[in-house]
This record gives sequence, C-alpha cells and structure tokens, in this order.
Amino acid sequence: MPFTRFSPTRPLFPFASAALTGASGGIGAAMAVALARPGVTLFLAGRDGPRLEAVGDTCRAAGAEVRLARFDVTDAEAAERWVRDADAERPLDLLVANAGISTGRRRDGSPESPADARRVVAVNLLGAMNVAFPALDAMAARRSGHLLVVGSLAALRGLPHSPAYSAAKAGLLAWAEGVRATMRPQGVTVSVALPGFVKSPMSDRVIGPKPFLADPGAAARTLLKGTAMGRARIVFPWPLAMGLRIAALLPGRWGDAMLMRLPGYVEPQ
Ligand SMILES: NC(=O)c1ccc[n+]([C@@H]2O[C@H](COP(=O)([O-])OP(=O)(O)OC[C@H]3O[C@@H](n4cnc5c(N)ncnc54)[C@H](OP(=O)(O)O)[C@@H]3O)[C@@H](O)[C@H]2O)c1
Repeated sequence: MPFTRFSPTRPLFPFASAALTGASGGIGAAMAVALARPGVTLFLAGRDGPRLEAVGDTCRAAGAEVRLARFDVTDAEAAERWVRDADAERPLDLLVANAGISTGRRRDGSPESPADARRVVAVNLLGAMNVAFPALDAMAARRSGHLLVVGSLAALRGLPHSPAYSAAKAGLLAWAEGVRATMRPQGVTVSVALPGFVKSPMSDRVIGPKPFLADPGAAARTLLKGTAMGRARIVFPWPLAMGLRIAALLPGRWGDAMLMRLPGYVEPQ
C-alpha cells in the first residue's frame, strides 16, 4: 500500500468534512489519507474503482467515514450532484478540486494533438470549476468553508513542452484568484496550489529531469496546512518557482530559449 497510515504524530487538519476529486491516485489520494481520522467524513471521487476503493480502505482504517463516487469531472451535472449530495450529508469544510491530466510533447518530438489539448483544458480547467461552483455556493450560504484548487507551477509561464497543460493551469490560477477576493467577504477562503514535480502516476509519465521531485505525502501535508492557514497561493519548491518567474520576466525569445533547453517528453495517458 503506497499510502502513509494513520499515526498519532501526523498533523491534524481542522476539516471535519472534506470532498476531494482525483482521490484515486497521486496527490489526491495522499491528501485523503492525510485528512483521515476519527470524526472526519471524506467524500472521495475518481474514475478508477479499484484504486479509489484502496484509498477508501486506507482512510477507513485511519478511522474516517468514507463515501466514494465515480464520475468524470467534465460531466457538470454529475459533479454538481456529487457536491450537493455530499454537502447535504455533512456540510463541507473543504473542497479540493484536484483531478487532472497531463499532455505534452511526444517521444518523437511532435507536439500534443489538438484533441489532447482540448481534453486537458476540459478536465483541468472546466472540470475544476464544475465542482468548485456548487461548493462555493453552499459554503457562501453558511459563510464558511475552504476551496483548494490544485494548479501547477506550469501556470507561471507557458511551457513549450506542454502548452495546453500550462494554459489550463494558468486559466485555473486566474479564475481562482479572481473568485478569491469576492468569496472572502462571504466567509469562504480560496487557495490555489502551484506545486512543482510530485511523485505520482502523472509525473511518472513525464520522461526527463524532474528537479526537486516531492514525496506525495509531504506535498499533501504542505497543501492542507497552507489551506488551513487560508493562504492565497501555496507554491513549492521555491527554486523552480523562481526559475519560471525569471523565464516569465525575460523577453519572450530569451524565455523560450531557456525553456527549450530542457529535455523530455510526456507519455500519453
Ligand atoms: N504530479 C505532479 O508532478 C504535479 C505537479 C503539479 C500539479 N499537479 C496537479 O495535481 C493534480 C493531481 O495530479 P497527480 O499527480 O496526483 O495525478 P494522477 O496521479 O494522475 O491523479 C490524477 C487524478 O485525477 C483523476 N482524474 C483524471 N481525469 C479525471 C476526470 N476526467 N474525471 C475525474 N477524475 C479524473 C484521476 O482519477 P482516475 O485515475 O480514477 O481516472 C486521478 O485520481 C492534478 O491537477 C495535476 O495537474 C501534479
């Protein structure tokens, strides 16, 4: 079992009821396990039944009440129904819009296909909004709650290796930052995560150097701690963030030249 089990030394997060998309793998599974303890209800969503069940079992073993749901986040009606049903059962303290896919340059150097580009925007940007909107609605009505949107450092500068992934995450960052200011007076905090490389099935498909690759458990705790503190942006690792910020500040061609030096490609999903 790749997940850290409950231990009394793990930090406790102040979320008694949390819903997470992308909970069947990687960072989402690690966040679910980090949140799991007696008294907590977790609503975990994914598409792959066996992997979702395995995460659910680990969370139940840690004492959490667990509800599992399988749907595609691009299905807006299913996403809304899941959030509303979860919130009706136990008002959500936290919603994590985490489900995502990656695309990018292929092994032969060819760029991502238009179909892949459309799909990554549909899942990573619109799919996140599909769960966020009903959650923000419910949280604003009772003037409490946290939304964590899982973006990426790829939002900081268009990446030549994965332009559509960058575009989707840049859109998500802009959207989350936009709603943050309007939600605060309504008692809802919105945090956006910009992680660098985190070990997961998604990053395993990135073939090439992965500087500062983080452990998913450590990444999950950083994200949840930042969210509990109401941080606007949760960004790590800082050297990679700084490199991308510099690339974004450089004249376009210089930034392109800097980023084009990076080798690598993305295996299709
Ligand atoms: N790993 C990294 O290096 C890294 C870095 C920065 C940001 N991120 C972001 O972190 C998030 C989680 O990534 P990860 O690394 O944990 O990836 P992962 O291991 O591939 O997990 C992705 C999760 O998203 C779910 N998912 C994908 N497409 C979906 C869809 N259409 N509908 C519903 N669920 C869907 C998957 O569910 P099923 O498998 O059940 O289909 C899975 O649970 C993503 O938003 C990603 O962009 C990751």
